Amino acid sequence: MEILDFVNQAGTSFHLALLDKTMEGNVRLGFVIFRQFRVKEGETMVVKNPRMAVVGARGMLARMVMNMAPPSWKLVGLSHPGFDLTDQFSTANGLAELRPDVIINCAAYTDVDGAESKTNLAFLVNGVGPGNLARAAKELNATLVHISSDYVFNGNKTVPYGESDPPDPRSVYGKSKLQGEQAILESGLERFFILRTSWLYGAGGKNFVETIIRLAQQKQELHIVADQIGSPTYTADLAQAVFTLLALEANRQETTRPRESLSGIYHFSNEGACSWHRFASEIVSLLKKTSIPVKTRRILPIGTVDYPLPAPRPCYSVLSGEKYKKVTGAVIPGWREALERYVLNRDKLSQG
Ligand SMILES: NC(=O)c1ccc[n+]([C@@H]2O[C@H](COP(=O)([O-])OP(=O)(O)OC[C@H]3O[C@@H](n4cnc5c(N)ncnc54)[C@H](OP(=O)(O)O)[C@@H]3O)[C@@H](O)[C@H]2O)c1
Repeated sequence: MEILDFVNQAGTSFHLALLDKTMEGNVRLGFVIFRQFRVKEGETMVVKNPRMAVVGARGMLARMVMNMAPPSWKLVGLSHPGFDLTDQFSTANGLAELRPDVIINCAAYTDVDGAESKTNLAFLVNGVGPGNLARAAKELNATLVHISSDYVFNGNKTVPYGESDPPDPRSVYGKSKLQGEQAILESGLERFFILRTSWLYGAGGKNFVETIIRLAQQKQELHIVADQIGSPTYTADLAQAVFTLLALEANRQETTRPRESLSGIYHFSNEGACSWHRFASEIVSLLKKTSIPVKTRRILPIGTVDYPLPAPRPCYSVLSGEKYKKVTGAVIPGWREALERYVLNRDKLSQG
């Protein structure tokens, strides 16, 4: 079993047990560790409800979700092969043992180009897996938070996509993510949030920002696609949105008669939009404010046709955050501000 160390936003450090190998034996062990995790040197904390299971716990977003979870929440991170969301029975049994109040699914097959050849795997993880989680959540009366993608759209629009715009994915990845959404909608689960997001980056994962930071230290000239438009999204802001919706729903359940559900599909990306080329230019100029040596002198715009990849991408996949803002009253940080927050604090984040 693997133990991860985290420091959350309140500066609390804790150890998190990643459940591994056999589900049955290690679930209990996970809870023993959770009940005793240290909050300060020499102190232990008895954690309170709600219980939250984070699926895909080693992934980029999952790490941020666990890092930002309210300190009083009882957390359990589930990662494969110990917990495989494509296995209906072990998913149901594993979650039944944990009895979480909230399940956050950050697991996915995220290799957009790989999905074009590993079609079955992509559909299994992204299409079938969320349905397994939804049925388990229904059985346990838990709330499911599931993350989906801007790639469910074809990109033919020129204004931001709303939640009621018809999906029409172009890639296997997009199709598999849409299948996952539909599996949740068809499961009969009452309390769920499907958050579609885009161009995600953050600590502890492969992403465009980290790729550009690496290339900027190696190459004098970069050639970056300039005819695809989207909204970069920082994992910290998406994780915050998840907790905002969950808190709002918990309040509604306590105070509203009859209960009014907030369940449904939401779009959440950082505000504003740019091309990959603009995004890369901003990353490199921010990098110059850090101690990282930058070699890149020129960033040249190229077309999608000049950089052929196995999976087709939507040329415009900006998501409208209007529904999220209206329901929560929250402000969504702009993509440039979020990027600055990330790039200028990266070193501290990686230590955390
Ligand atoms: N990254 C983006 O630009 C982007 C954009 C839009 C939406 N999204 C969505 O945002 C969510 C989070 O993305 P991310 O970038 O944080 O993903 P990530 O870093 O690739 O993490 C995904 C995690 O899922 C785990 N996983 C894969 N198959 C599994 C299975 N069968 N059972 C259990 N766990 C499994 C992986 O484990 P291993 O590492 O051990 O394989 C990995 O830890 C995903 O739903 C993704 O589709 C991402």
